[in-house]
Amino acid sequence: MASYLVTGGAGFIGSHLAEELVRRGHTVRVADSLITGKRRNLEHLPSVEFLEGDLADLAAATRAVAGMDYVLHQAAIPSVPRSVKDPIASNNANVVATLNMLVAARDAGVKRLIFAGSSSEYGNTPELPKREDMPLNPLSPYALQKAVGGQYCRMFTQLYGFETVSIRYFNVFGPRQDPGSPYSGVISLFATALLEGRQPIIYGDGEQTRDFTYVANVVDGVLRACEAPKAAGEVINVATNGRVSLNELLRILNRIVGTHLQPIYKEPRQGDVKDSQADITKARTLLGYTPIVPFEEGLRHTLEWCRSEHGAAARR
Ligand code: UD1
Repeated sequence: MASYLVTGGAGFIGSHLAEELVRRGHTVRVADSLITGKRRNLEHLPSVEFLEGDLADLAAATRAVAGMDYVLHQAAIPSVPRSVKDPIASNNANVVATLNMLVAARDAGVKRLIFAGSSSEYGNTPELPKREDMPLNPLSPYALQKAVGGQYCRMFTQLYGFETVSIRYFNVFGPRQDPGSPYSGVISLFATALLEGRQPIIYGDGEQTRDFTYVANVVDGVLRACEAPKAAGEVINVATNGRVSLNELLRILNRIVGTHLQPIYKEPRQGDVKDSQADITKARTLLGYTPIVPFEEGLRHTLEWCRSEHGAAARR
């Protein structure tokens, strides 16, 4: 059994990684600033060691990595609009903390660090689906910060022989994705609106498309990346290779929930990408990855969770 540090482990994707690692019998430590993460997301995992701290502080990063075999660096301020509004805070969380983690993990003799990259790094380049060797065109501070983090990772492998893998996530969704802020992922916002009988908001004409990826697929891809022999120094898309527009997403959600709510259309968001879809050939080849939970099944699991949260919130 091995030891894993999950940074951002009290957040949405991080808590799913921690849960699966515990299920597999590994030792898990979580480091989280609790800016967007919540202790509640780890309540069902009492064996997880929890460190509260800001990884933009090198001393906190050094404490977090001590004695760990693997680092899954998920901590971030994960929002395009939030980065447009406050690029300095998001740079500290997404770039400064990543560099600290790389230095600290390298010096502590960590075997491999997996970095949470983003589909937003590709921007609006015309070709679809996006392959990892295509040029990047970041349209927001968030996208640029993720591109820089990924390039730092690759450079640490080349310069210092420290093994890293950057996994580019594509619009991940699932249980525990917080619907509580205007910066939340669109699926959590739409699902909550429908369950509350409110009209969801669509920014733009709703014809923008995304490769929405259920969180269990991402967990599988990331854990494969820890061990895959040829993955070190690589950037790898982990997604489904599908593409769904927001209008279509809303139709499907309305059907599953049994509602007929029409959207309210508003001006497009600054820094928003038009279309996003991943080529996942590299993940298949290097990681033996294949999506295990299809889109609609993922939506059903997510809605079940949203419903039970609603019930819990009403009882609180
Ligand atoms: C982007 C990245 C994603 C990253 C995420 C971090 C791309 C293609 N994807 O997601 O990899 O993990 O940032 O947050 O850049 N929208 C609405 N109504 C809402 C909320 C959102 O119409 O209430 C729209 C947005 O304008 C956007 C789409 O839905 O067009 C998806 O938005 P969101 O879920 O915030 O994620 P991205 O910004 O696409």
